[in-house]
Amino acid sequence: MTDETASIDRVIRERRTINNFLPERPPVETIIEAIDAACWAPNHRQTEPWRFHLLGPESIAAVVDLNARLVAASKGDAAGEVKRQRWSEIPGWLAVTCSRIPDDALREQEDYAACCCAIQNLSLSLWSRGIGGKWTTGAVTRHPDYFATLGLNAEENLSVGLLWYGYPQTVPEQRRRPVDEVLVQLP
Ligand SMILES: Cc1cc2nc3c(=O)[nH]c(=O)nc-3n(C[C@H](O)[C@H](O)[C@H](O)COP(=O)(O)O)c2cc1C
Repeated sequence: MTDETASIDRVIRERRTINNFLPERPPVETIIEAIDAACWAPNHRQTEPWRFHLLGPESIAAVVDLNARLVAASKGDAAGEVKRQRWSEIPGWLAVTCSRIPDDALREQEDYAACCCAIQNLSLSLWSRGIGGKWTTGAVTRHPDYFATLGLNAEENLSVGLLWYGYPQTVPEQRRRPVDEVLVQLP
C-alpha cells in the first residue's frame, strides 16, 4: 500500500459525524476550497446537479426559528426552545440541494446519488482539514419555508440535507460490520 492510499483510507475510516462543535467558525475560504474539491464527484451525463448554499447569520436564524416552531408544534414549547438553543450553537451551516428535472424519475435518482457523492467528498475534504460535519435531513429540510429561506422554488429543487460543520469538540466512536458480512463474491 502506498502512503497516498493509506492516507486516503485513513480519512475515509476516521471521518465521523460530529454532534458537538467548538464555537469557532472555520474560515469561509477553507469551506469554499473543500466545496470546489467536492464537485469532482461522479455525476451521470455530467449534470453537476449539486448546489451548495452557505448560510449567513440571517438565514441561519430563519432555519433555527423554523425548526424550533416545527418541534414546538409536534412536541411542545419546551422541546422547541431546547432545539432552538442547541441549533443556535452550531457554528457552520451549508444547505445542499439538487436541481430537479420534472417528470424524469431516473434522472432525479441519479442526480440525487451524485449529490450524495458530493456531500461525502465534501465531508472527507473538510475532515482532512480538521473540520467535522453532520449531514442532517430532519423535517425542516423539506419544509416549504426552508426552500423560501434559500430563495429556491421547491418544485425545481430537491433538498439533500443540511451539512453542519465546525471544529469537533468530541469525536464519537462508530462501528462497521466486518467486510465478509457485506460482500458477496460470485463465481
Ligand atoms: C442521508 C443521510 C441523512 C442523515 N441524517 C441524519 C439526521 O437527520 N440526524 C442525524 O443525527 N444523523 C444523520 N445522518 C448521519 C448518520 O446518523 C451517521 O452517518 C451515522 O450515524 C454513522 O456515523 P458516522 O457518519 O460517524 O460513520 C445522516 C446520514 C445520511 C447519509
